[in-house]
Amino acid sequence: MSKALEGVRVLDFTHVQSGPTCTQLLAWFGADVIKVERAGEGDATRGQLRDIPGVDSLYFTMLNHNKRSITLDTKKAKGREVLDSLIKSCDVLVENFAPGALDRMGITWAHVQKLNPRMIVASVKGFGPGKYAECKVYENVAQCAGGAASTTGFEDGPPLVTGAQIGDSGTGLHLALGIVAALYQRERTGRGQKVLAPMQDAVLNLCRVKLRDQQRLERSGVMHEYPQYPDGQFGDAVPRAGNASGGGQPGAILKCKGWEADPNAYIYFITQAAVWPAICRVIGEEGWVDDAAYATPAARLLHLKPIFARIEKWTMTQDKFAAMDILNEHDIPCGPILSMKEIAADASLRESGTIVEVDHPTRGRYLSVGNPIKMSDSPTEVTRSPLLGEHTDEVLQQLGYSSEDLATLRAEKVI
Ligand code: COA
Repeated sequence: MSKALEGVRVLDFTHVQSGPTCTQLLAWFGADVIKVERAGEGDATRGQLRDIPGVDSLYFTMLNHNKRSITLDTKKAKGREVLDSLIKSCDVLVENFAPGALDRMGITWAHVQKLNPRMIVASVKGFGPGKYAECKVYENVAQCAGGAASTTGFEDGPPLVTGAQIGDSGTGLHLALGIVAALYQRERTGRGQKVLAPMQDAVLNLCRVKLRDQQRLERSGVMHEYPQYPDGQFGDAVPRAGNASGGGQPGAILKCKGWEADPNAYIYFITQAAVWPAICRVIGEEGWVDDAAYATPAARLLHLKPIFARIEKWTMTQDKFAAMDILNEHDIPCGPILSMKEIAADASLRESGTIVEVDHPTRGRYLSVGNPIKMSDSPTEVTRSPLLGEHTDEVLQQLGYSSEDLATLRAEKVI
């Protein structure tokens, strides 16, 4: 079966996490992704967080499926020549070097335009234009600068980062969308363009509800859905809201049976207005259905803490999966807190290909995420990440280099 991006060739100059997530998605959609790495060392993540000595780390393998790898010293003149032929034959160049690194390599926008006016040059940077444009950035810096950390955590604690890699993988997703849009526009214009996804901007895009709340707070000085209401204090910036949903349907994380021993015996419970009578019946508080103090969403906002304390008395009588089953029978939105161990064993996620097992020549079998985006006419088959330089000869021969050329480049440590 054909793939959505079949025929698209990507010069993948990415490393670490943000860029590789983007190019992995493109590869999953069928693009031919050629990862360019430094000879000898390659992407730094190959050797980081290793669980098996001498073997590509899970960090690397889980971010670089379905790609080809070539090694190339782009600081040598002959390496630059190879890079130029790649630029001529690819549709997209993706990079996430520190600001200025690509220009220092001589790969300026003008240079790319001269070689291949159809090329799309897509970049992840920590910040967009402005006072921090030159800064190097990693995941948690982006979470902090993009508004996620100041709005995550509990009111009486410090700002918190989240385990979801919204700065890296989140930005990679944004960049992939920009690339696909640019490819589509190129169909009409015949021209490539630059695509930039700064990590701060991508995190802010994911935190837009908090920017919404900043304006609500400035207008009214209070937000009824936040745990600071009704008895706490609001300052002049959006506060940390713990596990409150902060949205139109109040929610909370509640203990379930076994919480004393199991750190994940919890459930997220949403008191959706539409199913309030059902919630009252399930927890045995039928009287609340018509009680003026609880009957309307606005009235309930004044009593959220005692309401959730009462619901928790019920959730503590059930394990999280039993609670989920019972609540779903009544269409009450809720979700068990799943550990990574539970997720790794989840039959549905394996069935859908969101969790896959992959064979690797030096690592053996390992577990990875598959493509979370499902397309009916472009299925994803996850294949293992490449070994360092595994496809150097193959790719260079496709570019027209002979065996003798390859031997010379190898002798001169260009590849
Ligand atoms: N051959 C020769 N040199 C190469 C090369 C190759 N194949 N590939 C990369 N290099 C060189 C570059 O030319 C550059 O050298 P220079 O600084 O002398 O110009 C250097 O390697 C690139 O390094 P840099 O990007 O600065 O890496 P770093 O390890 O110092 O920093 C980051 C890592 C992630 C902090 C930085 O790349 C960054 O801020 N990226 C943008 C934001 C981002 O994506 N962050 C998320 C990472 S998950």
